[in-house]
Amino acid sequence: MSDTAIPLAGVIGLPIGHSRSPALHRHWLRQLGLPGHYVPMAVQQEHLAEVLQSMPKMGFVGCNVTIPHKEAALDLADSVTDRAALIGAANTLTFRADGRLIADNTDGYGFLENLKHSVPHWRADSGPAVVFGAGGAARAVIVALLDAGAPEIRLTNRTKSRSEVLRKEFGGRLVVYDWVQAGNMLDDAMTVVNATSLGMTGRPEFRVPLDGLNPNAVVNDLVYSPLDTGFLQRAREVGCTTVDGLNMLIHQAAPGFERWFGMRPEIDETVRQVLLPR
Ligand code: ATR
Repeated sequence: MSDTAIPLAGVIGLPIGHSRSPALHRHWLRQLGLPGHYVPMAVQQEHLAEVLQSMPKMGFVGCNVTIPHKEAALDLADSVTDRAALIGAANTLTFRADGRLIADNTDGYGFLENLKHSVPHWRADSGPAVVFGAGGAARAVIVALLDAGAPEIRLTNRTKSRSEVLRKEFGGRLVVYDWVQAGNMLDDAMTVVNATSLGMTGRPEFRVPLDGLNPNAVVNDLVYSPLDTGFLQRAREVGCTTVDGLNMLIHQAAPGFERWFGMRPEIDETVRQVLLPR
């Protein structure tokens, strides 16, 4: 195979050094014996358009985009999937042969696949859901839960105006609660998700009281560093089934890998080991 036929992909962000995506994609390339390279790329906001225009000419077949470029990437795309448009951000870009840029968002897919694989009996339509947070990650979770049939989503965020914006955008199935009253919205909820950065290494702990949790609820933290967060530990004390955030990262990466490198990757314990926080 000539050099030019080796597909290139990568992740664009700023900063990007902390990203686990290169380790993940390289593991899959090795495991499947596929040719290809996946590189981290630190790109300034003002250079994003120029970089995305040049990449297909250099042999890139696509890339992931992460903070702070997820919204800008959507605006720069020639075509946008429905789910990326709804979420208002892109994380997976594909260059067509003619250089046109397709933007997709697989975060919500990764979130749902993680829950479905970790708790096979889990169903979005089994009862109300609770989402903590109203940032980009929360938007993806909300779109996914609505799409999967959640009858009601109770939303709370430190900055209430951000929750109100989401309610206006996504409509009647969203109910907004004050952050200080967040403990009161847990009653009879069947799915509970932390989509804030609270509990992440180096960030403040998640302190909302969880004693009102329904023991039948499935509780998921999008934070995966540390893997077993205080939020998940407290939910287990109440008797809930808990799901960590690492497999969401893995599942959201799989569609991009398949599109760029041509094979569906394995999601098994070996890939979790590659990504475990160190
Ligand atoms: P992401 O795209 O990962 O969701 P983000 O848009 O910065 O990142 O959102 C981070 C989320 O964590 C927000 O919901 C944020 O609440 P605010 O909208 O009030 O900022 C939440 N968050 C971060 N630090 C927090 C803290 N100390 N207390 C409560 N919520 C916090």
